[in-house]
Amino acid sequence: MYNDNPTLAGLQKEIDEDRQGEAFYQDVINEQEGSKFFYIESYGCQMNFSDSEIVASILAENGFAATRNMEKADLILINTCSIREKAELTVRKRLKIFDALKNEKPGTLVGVLGCMAERLKTKFLEEEKLVDLVIGPDAYRDLPKLIATAEDGDKGINVFLSREETYADISPMRLDSNGVSAFISIMRGCDNMCSFCVVPFTRGRERSRNAFSIIAEATDLLNKGYKEVTLLGQNVDSYKWENPESGEVVNFANLLEMTALVHPKLRVRFSTSHPKDITDEVLFTMKKYENICKYIHLPVQSGNSRVLDLMNRTYDREWYMNKVRRIYEIMPDCAISSDIIAGFCTETEEEHKDSLSMIEFARYSMSYMFYYSERPGTLAARKYEDDIPLKVKKRRLQEIIKLQTAISLERNQEDIGKVFEVLIEGNSKRSDQDFKGRNSQNKMIVFPKADGLKPGDYTMVKVTDATSATLKGNIVG
Ligand code: SAH
Ligand code: SF4
Ligand code: F3S
Repeated sequence: MYNDNPTLAGLQKEIDEDRQGEAFYQDVINEQEGSKFFYIESYGCQMNFSDSEIVASILAENGFAATRNMEKADLILINTCSIREKAELTVRKRLKIFDALKNEKPGTLVGVLGCMAERLKTKFLEEEKLVDLVIGPDAYRDLPKLIATAEDGDKGINVFLSREETYADISPMRLDSNGVSAFISIMRGCDNMCSFCVVPFTRGRERSRNAFSIIAEATDLLNKGYKEVTLLGQNVDSYKWENPESGEVVNFANLLEMTALVHPKLRVRFSTSHPKDITDEVLFTMKKYENICKYIHLPVQSGNSRVLDLMNRTYDREWYMNKVRRIYEIMPDCAISSDIIAGFCTETEEEHKDSLSMIEFARYSMSYMFYYSERPGTLAARKYEDDIPLKVKKRRLQEIIKLQTAISLERNQEDIGKVFEVLIEGNSKRSDQDFKGRNSQNKMIVFPKADGLKPGDYTMVKVTDATSATLKGNIVG
């Protein structure tokens, strides 16, 4: 439970540790005299970060300027995540800080966006009295109207989920961008019903965005100097868009190919793939185009068939293993990463060991690892008892992390001596004498700078050293 009387410094540290993305939005962008200012923070998955860019664009169109200084803001927005209890607690802590600010500067509006807004709806306004706006992920076009309502002293709320909204026509305002890589949302919502997951409830039904608007966005990014786009969706492999004029259907493999063809030097990535939906057609399209990165995030969740069945993942251990074999068969140089949940309802020690052995089998380059957190309203919360003690969940998670770290190190050490094409993203965290960038397999490589090279350039780097998280190398050629 969170502390009711927190110190700001302590809170900030905890919150920084909780945040998944690096993006903290602090300088002033588009500042114009006389305009009202908004400040936005994002938590959760990349889709939320991408949504914040849509929100920023809508606000900019409506006379707001973005600021990275929350003290200066007339409107403070927090784009929230509900995926685990901890994600929600982080947001609650953050709201306390906003409350304090609001007390000092009456008239400041505070708005909650995203998945927590959707999950809690009007309850949010009862629980957090100082929140003025509650807006779900499909209602962002309504923001200007709701802000006007809140400025008049009423609460503004819209949490309607849509079957059509994809914000296809809105050109996102890139926040915290390195100017090299950007995200493009290609679909919204999720029609799977993984029993542990709150996303179908917070994001609504799955819908795919107009393929031409996706290609137009990729082309626009290229023209602005970007070199890498990541196509985003909860389950990108079920992307399907029908051209209303021709009746032609664009599937994910087609969309990947269309994006790859925008420019041979525009790298294409995508996330997330559901193992049940990724097809050979997608794998062969990846193989065919050098600029489609050889990296697949393929969350397994559990390595045990009984647990996978309880999770309603619709594949079993064997089926998943065959998918991994197929990927390595078609693209031996492809890296695979995963999400794994420890201590799902009724999971036995033996079944937990199946998750460990899956890590060894798939030889993931990395994984996002969690212990199970029951989410109200989900299938699992209604049907199964959350019966694994927290201590056991945490111990199993530690075992998973330990093994994955060892495998990541092994996989990275295999790269020593190899030469990779790296897209330079910027200075390394540790030294401004070094650049950092990724190879096709999404591995971060740090290497000493050379004259004439800048972020956004490609360069060949030979790997000389490796930790479990990073490769080190030198420019060659
Ligand atoms: N659409 C993606 C996942 C989105 S959520 C997919 O299907 O793979 C990101 C990850 O959070 C999930 O893959 C899962 O590992 C984790 N997660 C989701 N719900 C969770 C819960 N209730 N407890 C713990 N981890 C959870
Ligand atoms: Fe959640 Fe499953 Fe949908 Fe992923 S595919 S968002 S885990 S319901
Ligand atoms: Fe979180 Fe919503 Fe994404 S619950 S993980 S922000 S879709």
